This record gives sequence, structure tokens and C-alpha cells, in this order.
Amino acid sequence: MKENSTFSTLKTEDHMPGVRVITISRPQALNALNTTVLSELNHALRSAAEDSGVRVVVLTGEGPKSFIAGADILEMKDKSPQEAMRFAQLGHDVGKLLELMPKPTIAAVNGFALGGGCEMAMACDFIVAAENAVFAQPEVGLGIIPGFGGTLRLARLVGIARAKELIFSGRRIQAGEAREIGLVARVLPQEGFLAQALEIATLISKNSAPAVAKCKQLMNEFSESVGLNGKLDAEVHAFGRLFGSQDQREGMGAFAEKRKPSFWGIAPNSASAG
Ligand code: HXC
Repeated sequence: MKENSTFSTLKTEDHMPGVRVITISRPQALNALNTTVLSELNHALRSAAEDSGVRVVVLTGEGPKSFIAGADILEMKDKSPQEAMRFAQLGHDVGKLLELMPKPTIAAVNGFALGGGCEMAMACDFIVAAENAVFAQPEVGLGIIPGFGGTLRLARLVGIARAKELIFSGRRIQAGEAREIGLVARVLPQEGFLAQALEIATLISKNSAPAVAKCKQLMNEFSESVGLNGKLDAEVHAFGRLFGSQDQREGMGAFAEKRKPSFWGIAPNSASAG
């Protein structure tokens, strides 16, 4: 195992043969995604994509408690609509790298994968989850919407009705339910979780890299990764437009003040409301 990290919020390690593990390392904030993490992820993924020695990428979070507890609410809370759109775009750039780079990407989810954490996991080719994994898209409880691709990718993975139920309610699901609905490919014991995830990555890394890359490209085309850009742009704009609203300020303010939010935003009342 070779450690080659020059990042402040990530660790990168190479496991033979050709498996690069990228670990988000902000345990004090349960690995929440701020601008620095997203910029560093962008850099680390580009470098993995260009490195001919890397055949498979594994994304995980430091510590047993959390993969990623979402985008950093404290950093987002006072953003203007334009700043929020730029932030969402930064996350989309990372998601597109995970989804579209020719090399397989695996999310190894330990503990919380909430909001942007669930969205980053879904951007990977598949998710393996530890028994203690918990998934949710809790954004509507913060007065915002999923903004790193969740409105598209969750529906694509689990079907539109299940995705609506999860996104509208924000309810948390455990690893077992996540596997039942098709969000998670495999659930693995918590003990020795990363080593088992790496065994799966190693199995893939021993196969023909061009053949695996061609499978990824075709399967992405069949599952509507084509046209991804336009659809995700709509999410970025909708995400940004909610910033500065009464409900966004209340939702994120309540998180910062460690209390429950109280929402008063007016429900749209026309079928064409946008
Ligand atoms: C910033 C976060 C954070 C987050 C946790 N922390 N999640 N900081 N952003 N998303 C911080 C807490 O403030 C706290 O810091 C420390 O991590 C430990 O968290 P606790 O709440 O004390 O831990 P616990 O009681 O175990 O609860 C864990 C938790 C809870 C259930 C995960 O932290 C939580 O609900 N977090 C928010 C989850 C969420 O709503 N995620 C979605 C975000 S919106 P201190 O300094 O107090 O110790 C999103 C949008 C994506 O992701 C799209 C963007 C474009």
C-alpha cells in the first residue's frame, strides 16, 4: 500500500494492483463536503483518471461513523443564489467525473451517506455499504433540494416513485433497505469493511481495463447518462434559486443553532408552478 496524498481534506492510497482509494478526511464534521473537499476531489479524480497505473477508484470516508454527512451546511447557510449555484456546480463536476471517467468508481459507504453524501455515492458506478450505513436525502428539511444530482440519480437507481417518497420525506434508510430497493449493490459486515470492499475492487482491476471501460460506457448510455448535462443544469439552477428564501434561512439556521426548523414558505398553487 502506497500513500501519496498532498491534500488537506483527502487521503489517497494505492493498493496493488491498480486500486486507488480516495478517503475524505474531515472527521470533525463527519466528512461534510465543503468547497475545499470538492476542489480536492476534483483534482484527485482527474489525477486518477489520467494515471495509467490506476484501474479502479474507491471513494470512502474516514472513520466508522460517516461516509459523508452531506454538503457543509455551515458553509452553505449564508450563500447567495449565485454562490449556491457555483457550489452545486462544483459538486456536479465531481459527480460527472465519478460517473463518466472510463475507470470504474466504487463508493464504499461506512455510516452516514446523507444529502450530498448519498449523491456522491450514487454518482459512482455502484455502492457497497457497511451494515451500519444510513442513506437519506434530507434537503427539504433544510429548505433546499438535493443539488449534487440526487433528483436525477436516485430516480434512475430506485425508480421515480421510491425516489419521490425518499426525497419528499427525507427519511433515513438502513443498508438492508437500500439494497432491497437497488440503491446499494452489496452490504458487507462492518468488521473489516474496507478490506472487503477492496477485494471487490481488486477483482475488477484484474480484468481487461479496456473491456471494463467499454462496458461502463455502454451501460451509462443505456441508463441515460446521455443528456446528463442538461438535466443536471436544471437542478443547479433550482438549487440556487432557493437560497435567500425564508425556508432556506430557517432550515439551515436551525441546524447551526441545533434546533428543529419551523417552515412557513408558501406552497406553490398552480400545476405549472416552477
Ligand atoms: C456541516 C456537519 C454536517 C453537515 C455534521 N456536521 N453534518 N457540519 N455540515 N452536513 C457536524 C456537526 O455540526 C457537528 O459539529 C459534528 O459534525 C458532529 O455532528 P453531530 O450532529 O454532533 O453528530 P450526531 O449527533 O451523531 O448526528 C449526526 C448527523 C447530524 C445525524 C449526521 O450531524 C446531521 O443531521 N447532520 C446533517 C445531515 C444533513 O442534513 N445533510 C444534508 C446537508 S444538505 P460540532 O462542531 O457541533 O461538533 C446537502 C445538500 C447537497 O447535503 C447539495 C448541495 C449543492
